[in-house]
Amino acid sequence: MNILIIEDDTLLGDVLRDYLEQLGHEEVRVFPKGADALLALDAHGFDCAFIDLNLPDMDGVELLERLKQKDRTLPVIMMSGYPTMESTIRAMRLGASDFLTKPFTMRDLALALERVFKERNLLLENLSLKLECQAQEQLRHVNRQLQQRIEEKEKLFHVSRVIDEIRSSDDLYASIVELASSLTLCRRVGFFVYLPDLKRVAMISGLGFDNGGLPRTFPVDHEILTRCLQKGRTPVRAPLSAFAATGINEDAQGLGVSETAPAAPGESRVKGVSSLCRLLEEPCSLWPMWIRGELFGFLGIFQAPADERAGEGHSALVDFLMTKAALAVENMALYESLITNFYGILRSLVSALEAKDPYTGKHSERVTHWAVRLAREMAVNGTQIDILKTVGYLHDIGKIGMPDEILNKPSSLTADEYEIVKRHPVIGESIIKDLGLGFEERAIIRHHHERWDGRGYPDGLSGEDIPLLARIVAVADAFDAMTSRRAYRDSLPLEKAVSEIRENSGKQFDPHVVQAFLAVMEKDSKWKR
Ligand SMILES: [Fe+2]
Repeated sequence: MNILIIEDDTLLGDVLRDYLEQLGHEEVRVFPKGADALLALDAHGFDCAFIDLNLPDMDGVELLERLKQKDRTLPVIMMSGYPTMESTIRAMRLGASDFLTKPFTMRDLALALERVFKERNLLLENLSLKLECQAQEQLRHVNRQLQQRIEEKEKLFHVSRVIDEIRSSDDLYASIVELASSLTLCRRVGFFVYLPDLKRVAMISGLGFDNGGLPRTFPVDHEILTRCLQKGRTPVRAPLSAFAATGINEDAQGLGVSETAPAAPGESRVKGVSSLCRLLEEPCSLWPMWIRGELFGFLGIFQAPADERAGEGHSALVDFLMTKAALAVENMALYESLITNFYGILRSLVSALEAKDPYTGKHSERVTHWAVRLAREMAVNGTQIDILKTVGYLHDIGKIGMPDEILNKPSSLTADEYEIVKRHPVIGESIIKDLGLGFEERAIIRHHHERWDGRGYPDGLSGEDIPLLARIVAVADAFDAMTSRRAYRDSLPLEKAVSEIRENSGKQFDPHVVQAFLAVMEKDSKWKR
């Protein structure tokens, strides 16, 4: 141990040093003045100090106080020939570990040292435990932060995955409000689109609104709305009334409110209007969505007072959601308009084709109608029915490439002419094949003239090798052809056409499709009766 002794009695000082050195303590330094001891403490570390109460340059208690200021863990033993009660109490209050009254024996000194070292070791242990606790607390804090970051990343990933998997606008708007609600823990969330031509805002998707809630649209002031929802990343905290056009009360009476609260005439409308006004005044966070420089709409997160804290700290997540959703809206609009345009063009081509022949007019529309009914009867899934609805109309698109004189020939076709007509499924498929349509879409067009017994065209497929939707269209097509008038023959009576289909079950047509066809006919005839 390194021991510091401040004692102006040099003889006593030397005796103490000799004794302590004999005990094996490493360095024992004796100073007659307090000032020298303070300097020595600055230069070296000591494990214990002995201070005489009466020093020539300062009071021993004052020196104790100054030593403790420099090292509060240093154990100090006070020594005095004439200790007073007052100086003893002062010294103990300032942290003295023990008091030796002169004259004392060397055994007293050794016992005092032993006590002091035990105390110091306890103190050091205590300090080290405290430091360890602090380090652990810090670690827990870092862990909490890390956990928070991981949860945030997981949420971002979830948002990303949900939005990426969406394939239709309706699903997208429903998902935006669901995701916003789950991210912010707010229970009432709506997605609104701005209709600049009508100067109205329409809620197209909402969560947490009861039937008597917000009307679907309300009028807005364009200037105020666009000023309020400036471009930028910060959400606006404002009630919807901040940009509602004046006269909204009157307007509300003629809008959603009367639809949603019709119970008691007159009275319900008044209630409806006041409920609308309350909703418009509700605290709300508005997250604008801008697409190509134009305000497309905004997300409204209605925060009840209980939700306010819950909504805090989720800005980055909602911001990410809105950025991702804006891109999805833009892509979807682009995609939907491309597809819509494409189908529109093809449909107008089919219409133009059918318009040339007064006998076949609207054939494709009727074929689609029957095909969808047969498919529903067979419990075909929704996606395939959607395919039938769009592509059924185009099943004969390949006839665009056929000469008019063959298509509109008022008499039966020659063998050569029939060979030309038989090319229309393949031509039809080639018209649509570069447009990214799937196998099922292409199959309807290519295979609607295949026969169950394998004697059809163009590929001579048979049985279930013929794709299901093509087998369905084949029955619908044949039925409409038989029941429509042609230039070279009258239409067949319905009963005759039905029996033709029945007789060709398992030959020209899939027996299951024929069964569905007969069930549909049966339902129709019951309805007529
Ligand atoms: Fe055809």
